[in-house]
Amino acid sequence: MTAMQTVPERLKERIDVTALRARGVKHASLSKRERQGLKERIRRMLEEQDAVLVAHYYVDSELQDLADDTGGFVSDSLEMARFGYEHPASTVVVAGVRFMGETAKILSPNKRVLVVEREAECSLDLGCPADEFAKFCDAHPDRTVVVYANTSAAVKARADWVVTSSIALPVAKHLHATGEKILWAPDKYLGDYVQRMTGADMLMWEGSCVVHEEFKADALAQVKSLYPNAAVLVHPESPPAVIELADRVGSTSQIIQAAREMNNELFIVATEDGIFHKMREAAPRKVFIPAPTAGAGASCKSCGHCPWMKLNDLSRLEHVLATGENEVLIDEDIRARAEKSLRRMVAFAREHINPNMHVTGNA
Ligand code: 13P
Ligand code: SF4
Repeated sequence: MTAMQTVPERLKERIDVTALRARGVKHASLSKRERQGLKERIRRMLEEQDAVLVAHYYVDSELQDLADDTGGFVSDSLEMARFGYEHPASTVVVAGVRFMGETAKILSPNKRVLVVEREAECSLDLGCPADEFAKFCDAHPDRTVVVYANTSAAVKARADWVVTSSIALPVAKHLHATGEKILWAPDKYLGDYVQRMTGADMLMWEGSCVVHEEFKADALAQVKSLYPNAAVLVHPESPPAVIELADRVGSTSQIIQAAREMNNELFIVATEDGIFHKMREAAPRKVFIPAPTAGAGASCKSCGHCPWMKLNDLSRLEHVLATGENEVLIDEDIRARAEKSLRRMVAFAREHINPNMHVTGNA
């Protein structure tokens, strides 16, 4: 790591996790019958509007099940984008956060893309404003700009490459092997992990995920000592000392895959708590313990719970389908430039990781 860019404190002040948490998932308070009625109406509207629901693993489990039951998809951010592009539906409804809706629109400009909740943001996206990021890039023209998918369309438009957590390591390894120096944004922890694993020359933007940065290494080590046979699974947005304790580090899909494949019966999991729904489905006989977010002196604000993901809700989904609100619209110049760096990632994934990834275009 060569240098750091400081995120303005005023951006951090905009994030009131406690207030957001209070607004999250309201449909849980409805009766079972009311929720059933809601789901039936949503199912009907999805059909009538030729729409497909694509959900991230972190959203509420009922939304995940509804996506599965209606022919939609639940996955990590990379696969969500691929599915939205390849599915024949003319409308894609995204249950996740804003950058996921934007990514779907960037890849599928001719489709109508709706997001369940317009205010579902991401601290990484918020912490990397496009104008300040452009200045950072301008100051380092000798570097290849690699940005994490958790960014706005405008930041992606300024990048040479977009990566998700499932593909960050092989892309950085490839760039390092070809002698390129990297300008990395916005997640400093993922960047630090990639830098240590690849030895690449990386200049970092200093952003972080408010959820993953709360996992605590000391408390995790204590839990690990109580369960010596447990495997520790960690998302790479977590702090280095937490990653250090991991048996596997990976994206949300890779964490679920590890739970399925590893022989352990017990897992301690450092990522957002929505993931447990699919982990239990993938490995029903295994036991999953959330990694601790509070240790001595810690003040847990998010507690393994993404306040923006939990704004996605059945009632909001019904409202969006009924009104057509929350359509994602992106300036065409920005979209077209962002598409180039996104397609470069997808082409790389197809060539080096998953030949079944069929998203095509001009990389
Ligand atoms: P994945 O790409 O691993 O799904 O991560 C997205 C995310 O926002 C993690 O916090
Ligand atoms: Fe962003 Fe973190 Fe929420 Fe993922 S968990 S969407 S990185 S704030």
